[in-house]
Amino acid sequence: MSSDNTGRTAVVTGASKGIGAGIAKALAGSGAAVVVNYRTDAEGAERVVAEITAKGGRALAVRADVAKGEEGVRELFARARAAYGPVDILVNNAGVVAFGPLTELTEEEFHRETTTNMLAPMLTTKALAAQEDVTAASVVNVSTGGTLSHPAYASLYVATKSALEAYTIIAAKELGPRGIRVNAVQPGASDTEGTRAAGYVGSELEARAIAATPLGRSGTPGDYGPLVAFLASEDARWITGALVLASGGSR
Ligand SMILES: NC(=O)c1ccc[n+]([C@@H]2O[C@H](COP(=O)([O-])OP(=O)(O)OC[C@H]3O[C@@H](n4cnc5c(N)ncnc54)[C@H](OP(=O)(O)O)[C@@H]3O)[C@@H](O)[C@H]2O)c1
Repeated sequence: MSSDNTGRTAVVTGASKGIGAGIAKALAGSGAAVVVNYRTDAEGAERVVAEITAKGGRALAVRADVAKGEEGVRELFARARAAYGPVDILVNNAGVVAFGPLTELTEEEFHRETTTNMLAPMLTTKALAAQEDVTAASVVNVSTGGTLSHPAYASLYVATKSALEAYTIIAAKELGPRGIRVNAVQPGASDTEGTRAAGYVGSELEARAIAATPLGRSGTPGDYGPLVAFLASEDARWITGALVLASGGSR
């Protein structure tokens, strides 16, 4: 049985490519009208929208840098509501990463990762909760399996995602009485535009990660959409504050 999100409105941050694009397509396939948020890649976002609409789904690309503060987030929600009505599915997928030894940490990188991976999901969740006409909703935060494996050379990134997981659990407690569920998924290392650009795909590091993965491969953007569509749907009505590992068994 596949999940049904018919009649609902989803905002997926960072959906112009990679895991976010896979999630946007799956949510549209489950019946939701989807706002495909992007920061710079208008072409990628329009490609995702075209793929969804070609299959009879509803989607709209909206540019907003969610790490830039409340103004952009408010504009994103205003555009989503104007197009499709109250937002009742929010997927906080936009994320940035840089690997390197902790001795090379810069304050600039600290601010880049904390604003995108922590502040942005907090502001979008606040915006979702600020909608007084929403009585039931689902937020899914995209974390990482790295919060379990704690890999060396990812201290800042994993610290930001661990904070996102703590926020997920606390937000579930605060928003549960309003019928708003908040969960997180923990993807394993995956083949995306982002990890290709970072030189991970095809590297020795990837080969070692695959060897340590029971299901014997890297993740793909398509691996996460069905899980998120389920967590967003009424089928997951009793699930909130959960951190769901989806990593082919790697941990
Ligand atoms: N790939 C992996 O191995 C892996 C593993 C575990 C967790 N994750 C998590 O999964 C999520 C997606 O990863 P990915 O590899 O698919 O990333 P990706 O290929 O690098 O794509 C990142 C997406 O996020 C968007 N984005 C970044 N900053 C943004 C901002 N400030 N405002 C709006 N959009 C923004 C980008 O938009 P533009 O291109 O338009 O700028 C792009 O659509 C991230 O949260 C990442 O931490 C990934």
